[in-house]
Amino acid sequence: MNVRNNLVQAESTTTGGAFPAVRLRRLRRTSTLRRMVEETRLSVDDFIYPLFVVHGQQVRREVPSMPGVFQLSVDEVAREVETISELGIPAVILFGVPAHKDPIGQENFDPEGIIPQAIRAIKRVTPELVVITDICMCEYTDHGHCGIIRDGEVVNDETLEIYGRVAVAHATAGADMVAPSGMMDGQVQAIRQALDAAGFSHIPIMAYAAKYASGFYGPFRDAAESPPQFGDRRGYQMPPANVREALREVALDIQEGADIVMVKPALAYLDVIRAVRERFPVPVAAYNVSGEYAMVKAAAQKGWLDERTIVLETLTAMKRAGADLILTYFAKEAARWLNER
Ligand code: PBG
Repeated sequence: MNVRNNLVQAESTTTGGAFPAVRLRRLRRTSTLRRMVEETRLSVDDFIYPLFVVHGQQVRREVPSMPGVFQLSVDEVAREVETISELGIPAVILFGVPAHKDPIGQENFDPEGIIPQAIRAIKRVTPELVVITDICMCEYTDHGHCGIIRDGEVVNDETLEIYGRVAVAHATAGADMVAPSGMMDGQVQAIRQALDAAGFSHIPIMAYAAKYASGFYGPFRDAAESPPQFGDRRGYQMPPANVREALREVALDIQEGADIVMVKPALAYLDVIRAVRERFPVPVAAYNVSGEYAMVKAAAQKGWLDERTIVLETLTAMKRAGADLILTYFAKEAARWLNER
């Protein structure tokens, strides 16, 4: 009885009443009523669509573990961005697969590399589309790690110099924003300084700030051809058990000049998104990663889940948790569903 009284009391102090006067189902009765009191609204403006760019012509190769996601050659990217733009998606993030891999990933900072080519092609077709580039080394290095290797270890400070060169190469080709994802300490500061020194002080940085060492990146590594050839990434990406450490990562990245901070992956880390949103005033992005996409696609293909319901529900959850922006392979489908609503 006491417990019940306390609950009734708590409800009356927060909402000013209790059953039978209060009936929460009243505002759920019709779809219009539900629409009027919806607290979180997903929008196409929230989306950033990832693209995988490869060498060649008329290449449109589906990633086996990511149905509906393709490795595209530059000419195909130029066609794809027209659709993306027509759907109202404001931004893309580019990942490049180089022609050759080597220990330091030379093509990554080559002004004629795959990403600069793609940026220029996109800007010719859809100049208003925001082009973000991922700054990392794993797709370009023969060892598949996100930095330079010395004595079997990924060395931090020498790697920073390369990141700076990559960022400048992308900005020179016309990138609107860069997104360092390698999880080296000091990477935001190094890139900020390199960009500023090259005359790109107006180019924002979206920092992969709290990026966890996650099993959910598996399908991406097929798409970007970037799995580590030895060991794993736990020496630089974050341990999944930690949230206080994520707040330190975010605080440091903001101090170093990050304009947007990202939490990655999204679905298993909604509490981290919420914690970051509550403590920091900067825009927060969430990466709905490849493994999250693959799980939903696989279950939907088997008829075990309804894809549209699940996608809109999970993307809404990311936004409710506090994400302003969502990087998602579902962006095109979700945009179509939202436009229909
Ligand atoms: C590169 C990078 C990765 C992802 C984005 N940038 C892979 C990794 O860290 O191994 C993963 C994205 C996804 O899974 O969708 N460092």
